[in-house]
Amino acid sequence: LNYNVNKERRYIIEVLFNGLRRLEYRGYDSAGISIDSSSSSSSSESPLVFRQEGNIDSLVRSVYEEVAETELNLEESFSVHAGIAHTRWATHGEPAPRNGHPQSSGVGNDFLVVHNGVVTNFEVLKETLVRQGFTFESETDTEVIPKLAKYVFDKTNEGGGDQTVTFSQIVIEVMRHLEGAYALVFKSRHYPNELIACKRGSPLLLGVKELTGNMSNGSLFHQTEFPTKNGQPKEFFFSSDAHALVEHTKKVLVIEDGEVVHLKEGAVSILKFDYDKAKNAVGLTRPASVQRALSILEMEVEQINKGTYEHYMQKEIHEQPESLKTTMRGRLIRGGFHKAKSVLLGGLKDHLKTIRRSRRIVFIGCGTSYNAALAARPILEELSGVPVTLEIASDLLDRQGPIYREDTAVFVSQSGETADTLHALQYALENGALCVGITNTVGSAIARNTHCGIHINAGCEIGVASTKAYTSQIVVMAMMALAIGDDTISSLSRREAIIDGLFDLPNKVKEVLKLDQEMKDLAKQLMAEQSLLVFGRGYNYATALEGALKVKEVALMHSEGILAGEMKHGPLALVDENLSILVIATHDACFSKQQSVIQQLHARKGRLIVMCSKGEASLVCPSVSVRVIEVPQVEDCLQPVINIIPLQLLSYHLTVLRGYNVDQPRNLAKSVTTQ
Ligand code: G6P
Repeated sequence: LNYNVNKERRYIIEVLFNGLRRLEYRGYDSAGISIDSSSSSSSSESPLVFRQEGNIDSLVRSVYEEVAETELNLEESFSVHAGIAHTRWATHGEPAPRNGHPQSSGVGNDFLVVHNGVVTNFEVLKETLVRQGFTFESETDTEVIPKLAKYVFDKTNEGGGDQTVTFSQIVIEVMRHLEGAYALVFKSRHYPNELIACKRGSPLLLGVKELTGNMSNGSLFHQTEFPTKNGQPKEFFFSSDAHALVEHTKKVLVIEDGEVVHLKEGAVSILKFDYDKAKNAVGLTRPASVQRALSILEMEVEQINKGTYEHYMQKEIHEQPESLKTTMRGRLIRGGFHKAKSVLLGGLKDHLKTIRRSRRIVFIGCGTSYNAALAARPILEELSGVPVTLEIASDLLDRQGPIYREDTAVFVSQSGETADTLHALQYALENGALCVGITNTVGSAIARNTHCGIHINAGCEIGVASTKAYTSQIVVMAMMALAIGDDTISSLSRREAIIDGLFDLPNKVKEVLKLDQEMKDLAKQLMAEQSLLVFGRGYNYATALEGALKVKEVALMHSEGILAGEMKHGPLALVDENLSILVIATHDACFSKQQSVIQQLHARKGRLIVMCSKGEASLVCPSVSVRVIEVPQVEDCLQPVINIIPLQLLSYHLTVLRGYNVDQPRNLAKSVTTQ
């Protein structure tokens, strides 16, 4: 927060805390804040730093306790103030106050830094800095950054120089030495009321509040255009996530790699840092200033509140009839007398020919996004006529698997920022493939760096366990299959049946959500279990993997998704009267095979729960002891959208009953922006 209107310390702290609360879903093992110690903000005063292990509330408590202890005046007002705060998800160093951010250059807090990302060459930098006399207090990779800034500052001011070196020059010099991924915000005792943000790889936004009329969407965003001297009060916000900004402003600048954004007493300047040039430069580099355009966030504050629900995950599960409607809005064409039903995907239409001609379509993602691609693969294969393969992003990178110019590579990511998926995108771009993005985040790195794509428009997803994004991703990929297959007459009736199914899908989702209480009862039955196996095949192999992932990640219960066709090749050995097994056996081409799987599991006394199509319980139940979940039947390729919902509800209730944190499962983060 950097503003030029009188505000009191309490306001400053609250704005920073609220921002952190909005980001807590991304990482939450420790948090920290730095504010100025006095309104005179002279460079002799060290900024105050508070860091605390645990969630934001622990930080809030500790700040107010310390503030009270040191009798800091919460009513003290500031005409300009630059504060920073951070919530951390540990990568290097255990969760502990010393490892929290802001990280400091040492006694006096000459330089303070908050960091999202990983500095990969921190060990080398640390060794050099230790040789220069610096002592390190944390195990983080981040600590080298403020220390390096101090080193550069001291070096350039050696011999009592007149401190002409600017804050941005110092930051640029620091950037020159950093490898890895980062979004950084710097604060310094030597540059009171200034903040510098820069990034490489990790996402970063600048929010601009209360500017004059000419700063509308698309207008040029440049140092000289900022109304610096007209007295217009304004606030600026840096954040790695739009959620923290939307309650203050919708006007944002999506900061790009290599940009250095400098806030100084209400003015903004943007410099572009060129890594390649800088590497070989002698002395301090002086990058050129750049012009940028502001964009408007398409996000409402209500979307990021829980409303009447207890948890975000619960809200997001129950939102699915609506989120799916939004995903499909304007994209399904009802057809008419002489016109077939069809699908219109604006972001893809100019590339359909290339996709149809590609040698294969390869879907790349992580976690739930990968599972969504797995769920859509059968229909993509069927309608596109092109071989479809799947890659877990990290595995593709580990193997440096083949990607060719003739490939279409589709990157599936809710956040659009997952580091592994982004690196795989970079790799596919280098190999010349046509790159398509499927994301839920407009303006995200994947959305920006792919050649074309489809936004899933599911609305903000805050629960770490992905639910509504999963179903919207499947629907988007089914629509993609329909669009690719649109030139094939022989599949017309199949395609029209799927489009009818899509129109009706939100109603069917409403119907399946009525199983909530039943799933709560099932959760009561299962809550003390050690393990739950989920068997699926065909369209619902992905449902088995995704259902098990939900149970594992939020309810912290061991669970495995198993391809039913592999049952006899290992998993059957686990089955006895103590093992709970959920079999997905809704009606499709694999139905009779699943009937036989159920028989065999029953014969080995497995404790069976069977998911079947409404009205078919008698066809799948070998005995009354088997518990049945009946779900509405839809087109086979859309059935995974329906079938996952009882499993989402089950894992939600299991988590609540087992007393775990639903929205922030242990050790997990929503958006994994580090490799
Ligand atoms: C993390 C999240 C998962 C998510 C995965 C991929 O592991 O906890 O919920 O599925 O990342 O994220 P993306 O944003 O790329 O879909």
